[in-house]
Amino acid sequence: MQTFAWKILVTVIVRLHTKEWVVHAPSTWHHGLVADYWATVNLDAPELDLYRKHLRSPVLDAGCGAGRLLAPLRIQGLDVDGCDASADMIERCRRRAPDATLWVSALHDLDPPRRYAAIVCSGVLGLGTTREQDIRAVTQLHDALLPGGTLVLDDTRI
Ligand SMILES: C[S@@+](CC[C@H](N)C(=O)[O-])C[C@H]1O[C@@H](n2cnc3c(N)ncnc32)[C@H](O)[C@@H]1O
Repeated sequence: MQTFAWKILVTVIVRLHTKEWVVHAPSTWHHGLVADYWATVNLDAPELDLYRKHLRSPVLDAGCGAGRLLAPLRIQGLDVDGCDASADMIERCRRRAPDATLWVSALHDLDPPRRYAAIVCSGVLGLGTTREQDIRAVTQLHDALLPGGTLVLDDTRI
C-alpha cells in the first residue's frame, strides 16, 4: 500500500514538472500589495507621449492594470475602456476612473462590449501565460478592433 502511494506521488510530481497536468490560467502576481504598488507608486506614464498620436476613441486599454495609462488618457478626453486578468488591479483602476467601463478578463478570452478604433496593450503579454495563449490574445485584440483600427502593442517579452 505504501509503495502504491509513493508511486502515485512520484507520478504526480513528474507530471506537474512536465506541465502535463498544469492548466494554464493566467496567474499573474498582480494582486494585493503588488496591486497597491501599481496604484500608489508606479504612476508615471512617459510612454503616453509616444502612444498618443496613434490613439483615437474609442480606446481599449488591454491589461489596464491600476489605470496608469487609462486614467490620464481619459483626462485627456479619450473614451477609454479597460480590462485586466486581475480583479485587484481592476478594483484599483476603478478607484481612479469610476465612470470607465472596466472588466476582468484574460486577453486570450477577450469578449469586449464594443469594438475599438485603437487598443493599447503595454507590458501585459507573457506574464503567467503560455505562448499559445499570447498568440490567441493577439488574435482577440485584432478582432476587437474596428476596421482600420490600430493596435499599440508595447512589450519586451514577445
Ligand atoms: C506590468 S502591469 C501593466 C499594467 C498597465 N498596462 C500599465 O502599463 O500600467 C501588467 C498587467 O497585465 C495584467 N495581465 C497579465 N497577463 C494578462 C492577461 N493574459 N490578460 C489580461 N491581463 C493580464 C496584470 O494583471 C497586470 O495588471
